[in-house]
Amino acid sequence: MFKVINKIEKGYELNVTLVFEDQVKICEYASAQNKELIEKLMKKKEFTGKKGEVLKVEFLEGTYLISMIFVGMGKEESFNLDIYREVMFDVLSKEKGTVLISSENEALLDYNVLGEIASNINYSFDTFKEKKDEVLNIELFIPGEEKDFSETVFLGEATDIARDLVDQPANIINPITLSEKAMELGKEYGFEVEVLDEKEIEKLGMNLLLAVGKASITKPRLIVMRYLNGKDNDEKIGLIGKGLTYDTGGLCIKPADSMFEMKSDMAGAASVIGAMCAIAKGKLEKNVIAVVPACENAINGNAYRPGDIIKSMNGKSVEIINTDAEGRLALADAITYAIRNEKVTEVVDLATLTGAILVALGNITTGVFSNSDEKYAMLERSSKLYGEKVWRMPIYDEYSELLKSTVADIKHTGGRMGGSITAAKFLESFVEGLPWIHMDIAGTAFNSGIKWFKKGATGVAVKALYSYVKNR
Ligand code: BES
Ligand code: MN
Ligand code: ZN
Repeated sequence: MFKVINKIEKGYELNVTLVFEDQVKICEYASAQNKELIEKLMKKKEFTGKKGEVLKVEFLEGTYLISMIFVGMGKEESFNLDIYREVMFDVLSKEKGTVLISSENEALLDYNVLGEIASNINYSFDTFKEKKDEVLNIELFIPGEEKDFSETVFLGEATDIARDLVDQPANIINPITLSEKAMELGKEYGFEVEVLDEKEIEKLGMNLLLAVGKASITKPRLIVMRYLNGKDNDEKIGLIGKGLTYDTGGLCIKPADSMFEMKSDMAGAASVIGAMCAIAKGKLEKNVIAVVPACENAINGNAYRPGDIIKSMNGKSVEIINTDAEGRLALADAITYAIRNEKVTEVVDLATLTGAILVALGNITTGVFSNSDEKYAMLERSSKLYGEKVWRMPIYDEYSELLKSTVADIKHTGGRMGGSITAAKFLESFVEGLPWIHMDIAGTAFNSGIKWFKKGATGVAVKALYSYVKNR
């Protein structure tokens, strides 16, 4: 699928040459005659290498028919990796077979980003289709020393794991099958997985999680993943992922159009599971605990109701206002479990939590909430490495006023205005003062907007979490 090579030893279906605007150089190995041909063609077509500009040439080199495209990246001064991602995704999405990529300019040989693009293009949710999509093999030519490109390959793989879990529909992925997948992945990648069933969840007093999941035929599971490989630090990073395998809205049922995509309501869980695979594969010397409250927000006579008052694992009583605000309930108990039973020293949670974050930031940017400037800065850096956009949202204490209940310690929704913020404030009230990051990925887990990404699940934050854990 993706390879970096330092010797060209075979023919390719297509040779892709990347150039900056007004710096077009023609490959060394072409004969004098072919160079002339290419130069003439470039003149005739006025090819200068503007951003996204493509020139196709075909010529005989000895007995070989060479197919080549020159791809423009625009001016070197205004180049950035977002441009690279956009142009390369666009150009390579149209190709099949095995292509060779080369450039005279080192900046255009970013093998990490190209590996990312290769796996992005090749990801396809075709489990249920008779006709499978063809793969594109990308080989990148970098002369000189051999490059170790294994990290970009396994990060792509881990992202695909998350994307596939999200794309799989809810008749396949339920709390039980999601747990089984996590166990399989733990064995394959090398992290420990423990799954607590409904009885154990009840014993632990995780009544919020139980309430959300109790109307489903497949009852809640708590998936606990442990990767303890820290050498000289006592940090234990807690990753928590919302694992709603389906969200009907419960008794406060969603309209059909909004329900349609709700198989993706376990995208936080999927990203956390994918990140654990990458962390273990990269043999990071860190301690990481991932916790996924897996459940389905369904409807039957046993469903929890608006007006119910439920005691959380943490001890706080919660007044239920709207059964469609289920994610924060499942997460609250998972956070308490991670802090009290697994002794994590910081909490990073990921959740497709609110429609309001879509209203605020659309499909492009993940809304991030944090009580720690330092941790937020680290996460922002990690996300940017992979072209993922994040934006910090406010968590001023005034917003907590909106969660005051007259009958319980707290209510779980604060109304339509600032809906993503009150959701975050609810979660914050369960983190017991630990450093905490909350990523609301409701807009970014499922793509319709980003130019260099396929439609469907994105595997958002898998790579960012890996690098957040690695680079500290
Ligand atoms: N899973 C949804 C949020 C969501 C919306 C994710 C759109 C992806 C796309 C969440 O459980 C939800 O329903 N939130 C409610 C909360 C409200 C009732 C306070 C919402 O945002 O409308
Ligand atoms: Mn909901
Ligand atoms: Zn939900």
